[in-house]
Amino acid sequence: MSQSHALHAGAKLISLVDTVPRIQSSILEKGSSVLSQLMFKPPVKKVAKNTVQHQHSVVCRPCTADDRNAMVDFMTRQFVTREPLMQSVHATTSNSRMFVEHCIDEALIQEASFIARNEDTGKVFGVRLNAIGPSSGIEMENDFGFYINLIPRFLHHMEKDVPKLLGTDSFMRHVAICVEPGAIQCGVATDLMKASAKHAKVNGLKNMVAMCSWKLPYKLAQKVGFRSVLRVPYAEYAESLRCEGEKAMEPFLSLAKSEGVAHTMVRDV
Ligand SMILES: CC(C)(COP(=O)(O)OP(=O)(O)OC[C@H]1O[C@@H](n2cnc3c(N)ncnc32)[C@H](O)[C@@H]1OP(=O)(O)O)[C@@H](O)C(=O)NCCC(=O)NCCS
Repeated sequence: MSQSHALHAGAKLISLVDTVPRIQSSILEKGSSVLSQLMFKPPVKKVAKNTVQHQHSVVCRPCTADDRNAMVDFMTRQFVTREPLMQSVHATTSNSRMFVEHCIDEALIQEASFIARNEDTGKVFGVRLNAIGPSSGIEMENDFGFYINLIPRFLHHMEKDVPKLLGTDSFMRHVAICVEPGAIQCGVATDLMKASAKHAKVNGLKNMVAMCSWKLPYKLAQKVGFRSVLRVPYAEYAESLRCEGEKAMEPFLSLAKSEGVAHTMVRDV
């Protein structure tokens, strides 16, 4: 690691410790291994094609079938329970499992997704699921239960016009991103994003597309050069479901209060 990288990681860690008591207590509880994990921001060396190695064996690399079960476990525990869209449809680790498995299996087939994982311990620090080209809409043909079914329908609404807007099917479509709570704001999502962008470039794709369901991923996407091409107020989307009854509207009305709008974002590769 270069000196400037080391200083940058150190400075970031100190400011986190100073300002975020939750992270501070987690460091004190778990000891130096957490300290070292929090300091893994700078990529230090390339170990294989498409792979970035951080300190202490945490690598950011393409997902493989061997990661499947760890990914399902990570996304059902860390994504479903924290992401506002999933929370609005009352998703739990158990009622969302089939949907999560479906998304991960689709992502593995497409071979464009990335994982940050400690190769010694197997601990997952972050996952970014991507797809190539427009959604086939196959998710909407499955029955994941009343509430979970609202998710693929909403995603379809947000993404269906993207090929027309871009004038091409040649894009990488972001499906989901999640970072382990003990490692947030250490650059893991940014590294997963950079690995995805590199993959898109190497594979000759023209654009990257991301549906941002809430303020934080919107900020993250803006930071890495995405621009909004579609802005959908949740209240407006809820209204479009009126004929299906209050049960279908309720998740989007709650998101209207907490988040306001969802964005479909694009950037050139
Ligand atoms: C959103 C999420 C993936 C961000 O992961 P992360 O590894 O913490 O993100 P990074 O450290 O790479 O941060 C990238 C940028 O995002 C923004 N950001 C990330 N966390 C932030 C926070 N808590 N508050 C404000 N801005 C934040 C910042 O602009 C940051 O850049 P900076 O550090 O240079 O200011 C993570 O919070 C998460 O997993 N959330 C739960 C799942 C979810 O909601 N996923 C998004 C929907 S698909």
